[in-house]
Amino acid sequence: MAMATATTGTLFIRTPLFRSISLATKPHSFHLKASAMEGREIKEEENVGGTEKKKIFVAGATGSTGKRIVEQLLAKGFAVKAGVRDVDKAKSTFPGANPNLQIVKADVTEGSTKLAEAISDDSEAVICATGFRRSWDLLAPWKVDNYGTVNLVEACRKQNVNRFILISSILVNGAAMGQLFNPAYIILNVFGLVLVAKLQAEQYIRKSGINYTIIRPGGLRNDPPKGNIVMEPEDTLYEGSISRDQVAEVAVDALLHPESHYKVVEIVARIEAPKRSFEELFGSIKQR
Ligand SMILES: NC(=O)c1ccc[n+]([C@@H]2O[C@H](COP(=O)([O-])OP(=O)(O)OC[C@H]3O[C@@H](n4cnc5c(N)ncnc54)[C@H](OP(=O)(O)O)[C@@H]3O)[C@@H](O)[C@H]2O)c1
Repeated sequence: MAMATATTGTLFIRTPLFRSISLATKPHSFHLKASAMEGREIKEEENVGGTEKKKIFVAGATGSTGKRIVEQLLAKGFAVKAGVRDVDKAKSTFPGANPNLQIVKADVTEGSTKLAEAISDDSEAVICATGFRRSWDLLAPWKVDNYGTVNLVEACRKQNVNRFILISSILVNGAAMGQLFNPAYIILNVFGLVLVAKLQAEQYIRKSGINYTIIRPGGLRNDPPKGNIVMEPEDTLYEGSISRDQVAEVAVDALLHPESHYKVVEIVARIEAPKRSFEELFGSIKQR
């Protein structure tokens, strides 16, 4: 059963056609149970007078970006269900007990039914930070970055979770952008056409009706952020890099800003770029 949530100020409801209706509300908290696939506005501070935290499922939680997403979600007061392939690895990635962090096994190649069980009916949104690991399996990019992501969307459908945030990549549509001979496009696609696999998954998400934010970062860096975030529409950026900390920030803030709904955003960091709020950044991108 889907649930729409009202918090102080504004109530956002999605109709079955996924049009957003914004209603002014009095400052109180309640849950509205509604029909399948309605959307929910995610807020950090939830249930005034209550203790329930919004739970976010993170796929690929032990990855370099995924673990930052988990850490930032926890720091911002969310509860997290960390979906991982290897529970023991996750226990060392996230040492110490945290009542707001739950670790569950979730291999995206194992199909939507198992994933739906992992996501369960208590997750408000899914953030997908998976990426294939290099191996002798040339089909790994298709299994993980295409079918794996599709499986996650189908699992969301099974659990009536209607918010999906994907970490994709700039240049996924490089061929259409005239970047066929861009070395980054060539090199990345040498590994099992991973950009093509990601693009196919994006297209599936966009047709699915789920409320999505597709984040396409430039080259990922483990270093702390250098420069401010630059956000551009799809098929715009073909070079540049960004700290994984900033990518995680964009993913978490997408949960908090309705300006991010149904959008594809490309991000890099630039020293000379002005600092802009997430309202401004997401608000500057048009829905297509
Ligand atoms: N590297 C770049 O410069 C770059 C640039 C743009 C976009 N991206 C994209 O950004 C995303 C995050 O990149 P990253 O470098 O931070 O990722 P990463 O460190 O390579 O982590 C990938 C995560 O995906 C998980 N994973 C792999 N196969 C899986 C499966 N079958 N089921 C469930 N989880 C699976 C891995 O699990 P384990 O921990 O168990 O291995 C890991 O947690 C990826 O989609 C990547 O393609 C990367």
